Amino acid sequence: MSDQTQDEIRFRTSLLEENEGPAINPTDNRTMGEIIAARFSRRGFLKGSLAVSAIAATVSPLALMSADEARAGEGGSAFVFDEVEAGIDDKHHVAAGYDADVLLRWGDPLFADAPDFDPAKQTAEAQARQFGYNNDFVGYIPLEGSAEHGLLVVNHEYTNPHLMFPGIVKVVEKDGKKALEQAPLTKEQVDIEMAAHGGTIVEIRKDGGKWQVVRDGKLNRRVTANTEMALSGPVAGHDRVKTNADPSGTKVLGTINNCAGGVTPWGTYVMAEENIHGYFSGALPEGNKEAENYKRLGIPEGSYEWGAHYDRFDLAKEPNEPNRFGWIVEVDVTDPNSTPKKRTALGRFKHEGAESIVAKDGRVVFYLGDDERFDYVYKFVTAGKFDPANPAANKDLLDEGTLHVAKFAEDGGVEWLPIVFGQGPLTAENGFNSQADVLIETRRAADLLGATKMDRPEDIQPNGVNGKVYVMLTNNTKRKDDQIDAANPRAKNAFGHMIEIAEEGGDFAATKGKWEVLLKCGDPSVADVGASFSTATTANGWFGMPDNCAVDSAGRLWVATDGNNAKETGRTDGLWAVDTEGSARATSKLFFRVPVGAELCGPQFAPDDKTAFVAVQHPGDGGTDWEPFGRPSYYEDLSTRWPDFKPDMPVRPSVVAITKQDGGKIGV
Ligand code: FEO
Ligand code: CA
Ligand code: CA
Repeated sequence: MSDQTQDEIRFRTSLLEENEGPAINPTDNRTMGEIIAARFSRRGFLKGSLAVSAIAATVSPLALMSADEARAGEGGSAFVFDEVEAGIDDKHHVAAGYDADVLLRWGDPLFADAPDFDPAKQTAEAQARQFGYNNDFVGYIPLEGSAEHGLLVVNHEYTNPHLMFPGIVKVVEKDGKKALEQAPLTKEQVDIEMAAHGGTIVEIRKDGGKWQVVRDGKLNRRVTANTEMALSGPVAGHDRVKTNADPSGTKVLGTINNCAGGVTPWGTYVMAEENIHGYFSGALPEGNKEAENYKRLGIPEGSYEWGAHYDRFDLAKEPNEPNRFGWIVEVDVTDPNSTPKKRTALGRFKHEGAESIVAKDGRVVFYLGDDERFDYVYKFVTAGKFDPANPAANKDLLDEGTLHVAKFAEDGGVEWLPIVFGQGPLTAENGFNSQADVLIETRRAADLLGATKMDRPEDIQPNGVNGKVYVMLTNNTKRKDDQIDAANPRAKNAFGHMIEIAEEGGDFAATKGKWEVLLKCGDPSVADVGASFSTATTANGWFGMPDNCAVDSAGRLWVATDGNNAKETGRTDGLWAVDTEGSARATSKLFFRVPVGAELCGPQFAPDDKTAFVAVQHPGDGGTDWEPFGRPSYYEDLSTRWPDFKPDMPVRPSVVAITKQDGGKIGV
């Protein structure tokens, strides 16, 4: 089968490719690249440094200012560990002196009475009692304040049928060549997919230095694409979210494509609904008024076959159903029977994550990325204040507040523009008759406000230790030459970059701040790439495509990546430690790397920094670019059987717990 190419098959991979498809932002708002370029062309730094040498051309202005110190090596780094060698193979690798133990695998039973995983005889009922597929966000909620006993909350973003189901990929003859074809899914397989989506809440305990799953944990729960949820906040009950199955417009079945997320200061689990467009198929009835709204989100995309079996995913039958997805979902983990709430006040778009922090005055700020080329960075500020002593006061904090979208200025300022019905262009003249209308079409509202078009905003992490905010912008290969500018400066931005925001007065709720590019990603030894890692960064330490990220309790930044691969980078995705302070700023080191085909999600540190939980997502999804395998990977012919490496076990997305062998803190 060596004559097959990836082009000959149509496996469903991450809907990431959709985010990389034609840009669907129709406005002429200025791009971040245009603005950064203007800013740095005034400083004139780029020309000067490019003239010196390939290495100098890759160094950021900040690094240039402290180049001598940076060259002093790791002296200024906040991280102490022996870097992993970048590369690609069928296993995971962690820094020497650490253990990376698989804690939860796709199919692992989560309840005392849940069936063991049998991939050849999987059922939807079994899947709904087992760990789901393609783990993404990982959060840790301590039980009784413990760093060694808590709830792990994990999103299950999407499914890969060609890796999950035996017998659905066939070798066929096509134009005299062998090719692979995937059969349509049966209803039972669709039901398994639906049960493999959503999230997991599971009790875990550290025992003798090793984490264990507590299978009879009273709070263990699976949330799926069929769990009953409530629509809450300004959109609840609006005509545009009413369906035949739910004339009240308040009850939704399930959550889908939960990418990153967060844990709130009051201990609830929030899940971000990202690439919802892929689940809908069929055509809207002629003249339906949602046509423009759906077009702005790429709905329907139809890569899932759910609409063939369930009316609610068929636009012809339930034209309002897509308005019930694309929200932030909040789950009360203290009651496994609680009804998750879709918090509509936080807007509707391709939500990447929802990390939060308490502002100076007690209001809570959520940073939200909309992961599409040329889409926006948002933040939501609650109206009410967090009260640690009164859980009831925090219960519905997410139903009232102000959503803002970011406008980045050339002078290094950022303005957070309120998205409020009746203000500025958000009026009936532009088709908005209420805040519900504004929220249902958040993207169009942000377009009208003149928000800055970004290079695919992924996870955004506030850092309570240094008071800054870190924005991951994963890539944007559609940015044209005439859209680039200095500090976000790359046409065909294949490797992404990271922006650091300092809110005015150190107040996360401020409506103004300053921004800097922390670093531009990619191989710094290739001048044309224009990366800006510090010169202390080794050949193993650079990365592309920043995606999920975390800060540990010391305020150090850790970045997980999605999109590195053998062909372009000679490395898999992984977890990189990125210095943000002093002379080591923009120095990166590789701490952990994933097996072939995977991206890395999570990461999440236990409160004592002695464990890093990471989520290995879609391992084995691909192998053509990895020379020792050199062909597409599917259930019967996998590029890796990680993590079990048993002939009768498929590859399994899994959460890994990384601990130091001496029991100490990670990276210290
Ligand atoms: Fe699901 Fe934007 O990554
Ligand atoms: Ca992501
Ligand atoms: Ca991703």
